[in-house]
Amino acid sequence: MNNCSLYENTTKIIPELFSVEVSLNDCENFFKLINKFIRFSECYVFLINPESIQFKNSYKGRTKYKYDYTIDITKDLFQLIFNTKKRILDNNSKLIKILNLQSDYYALSGLSIRGCVYGFVLYGKESIFTDDEIISLKTCTEVLSYKIKENELSNVFKIQTKALKDAVKETNEAYKTIKVQNKKILSADKVKNEFLASVSHELRTPLNAIIGFSDILKTQFYGELSDKQTEYVNDIQTSALQLLGMVNEILDISKIEANAVKLIKQYFEISRPVIETTNMLMPLVKKKNINLTYHIVKDIDIYADYQKIQQILYNLLSNAIKYTPEKGKIEINVSNTYKNVRISVKDNGIGIDKKYHKKIFGKFVQLEDAFYKKETSTGLGLTITKYLTELHKGKIRVESEKGKGADFIVILPIEEK
Ligand SMILES: Nc1ncnc2c1ncn2[C@@H]1O[C@H](COP(=O)(O)OP(=O)(O)OP(=O)(O)O)[C@@H](O)[C@H]1O
Ligand SMILES: [Mg+2]
Repeated sequence: MNNCSLYENTTKIIPELFSVEVSLNDCENFFKLINKFIRFSECYVFLINPESIQFKNSYKGRTKYKYDYTIDITKDLFQLIFNTKKRILDNNSKLIKILNLQSDYYALSGLSIRGCVYGFVLYGKESIFTDDEIISLKTCTEVLSYKIKENELSNVFKIQTKALKDAVKETNEAYKTIKVQNKKILSADKVKNEFLASVSHELRTPLNAIIGFSDILKTQFYGELSDKQTEYVNDIQTSALQLLGMVNEILDISKIEANAVKLIKQYFEISRPVIETTNMLMPLVKKKNINLTYHIVKDIDIYADYQKIQQILYNLLSNAIKYTPEKGKIEINVSNTYKNVRISVKDNGIGIDKKYHKKIFGKFVQLEDAFYKKETSTGLGLTITKYLTELHKGKIRVESEKGKGADFIVILPIEEK
């Protein structure tokens, strides 16, 4: 390397300089490399802050700076660093005196990036620097400026990448936890549904026996009943029927939630379930002296699950009876378009405030009212009704205002295969 000119050496060494690891606090390897062909006996790196200069690192430095050594700088010192044409300072120069440096001559090279100076390097030796040496040192210091800033930037990137990685890790962990919890919830839900289904099933058998035997007692085939006995047998039967209704609803909802409800479709005239449900509930209608009428505009065949359509009608009509005071009025209207059947169950009962119109179709929702004893209801009727309607690809909605009766409207496709 010594046989070549300093300029050639500098040009040759630049790629190598770019690959040296440096930071603002450690430039040792960098200076070691350039010191092989540019003669200097020591050098110091300073960072320029708004009102001070801060010593950062040195190479073979004879002055013992503390690592965080900072010097307050006055305006003229700034001028000295930035504006002086002189790149060589001797030990009489103000800066060298303030910094308390030992060599006879110093070459000053700015650390800058895109014209913005952020520090400087002072290369010192006992003899004066040649012009070639000054140019070479300037070129090498430019590489150093770039390397220091690159290192800072890559540190910022490293921090950001680490933050990103941590965030991704956290998200993944949260996702895993949620997955595990979801699994637990699903299996707990399954256990709950299976439990409800089996309990409901076990309850239905004795309830059916109670209803059946009270029916037999009422026939008085096995002996006459006194008035009191007849009254009690009737009470037993009514309560058992109510309980059976609740048990059936719980069984239905657990089947719905287990996705175990299947439609068994057949063709039937829409009037059939309407008339049958009305007849089934007639005793309750009569008991409350309600005026019940139904009107079927045109009796048509519908392809649907008969038992489920009956259940929809039963739930709507029993609600209408339940939430209509004595001597009230209920109308069932059935009409159809080319594609759909429209069933409306309208009463002039207590009605439902608009803000509850969506809510009432939710599970176990029962609104506050004085009409009906809540113990005999589960608040599942409309949930089941909505589910069964939607299983038929139909829709259900309510039109009502508080105190002004309610109209439940079900739209069912005539032919949904
Ligand atoms: N025709 C109606 N008029 C006024 N309020 C009604 C009517 N139908 C339903 N509701 C309100 O909506 C709530 C939910 O009805 P849903 O049929 O789901 O439950 P429920 O009748 O209380 O109990 P069950 O499970 O025995 O049917 C009722 O508690 C009642 O407050
Ligand atoms: Mg109900």
